[in-house]
Amino acid sequence: MAGAAKGGSGGGGKDALYADLVAQLESLLEDCPDPVARMATTAALLKDNLPAVSWAGFYLRRGDGALVVGPYQGPLACMVLPPGRGVCGAAAARRETVVVEDVHAFPGHIACDATSRSEIVVPLMKDGEVWAVLDLDSREPAAFDGTDRKHLEALAAIVARAP
Ligand code: SME
Repeated sequence: MAGAAKGGSGGGGKDALYADLVAQLESLLEDCPDPVARMATTAALLKDNLPAVSWAGFYLRRGDGALVVGPYQGPLACMVLPPGRGVCGAAAARRETVVVEDVHAFPGHIACDATSRSEIVVPLMKDGEVWAVLDLDSREPAAFDGTDRKHLEALAAIVARAP
């Protein structure tokens, strides 16, 4: 079944689940300006509510373009991703969300978790620049689709927004 959320038998179920997550995140982050707390809270919310997600977290863009791991939930992950490498590096370089149905077919995929099968990476923008990415992994193939993309982009925009 496509889609990470598994909030029901169709896109409507997922839409409803994500609408609830958006409302929860808006409320949780309302009075919290600290970026680490915002990212940590978001990672926990997503990992706890999206059953198909095996890893949820953030990588922060360093001055040299490398991505350094930030707050996350799930198994231990790679700490530094070289500039432009992997799904995360591709999303940061393209400044757009990258959805990968089969990580084994993605050139340069960085396998922090050998059991990961699919992935979605959403850039977080500030003043036109990528300062972080939101990364979700799944052990199921094709776990993420356009519905996940739409809602995860909305969630990432909430995290990136200064309160
Ligand atoms: N698979 C990612 C690396 C980060 S882990 O998934 C947590 C990538 O190819 O960029």
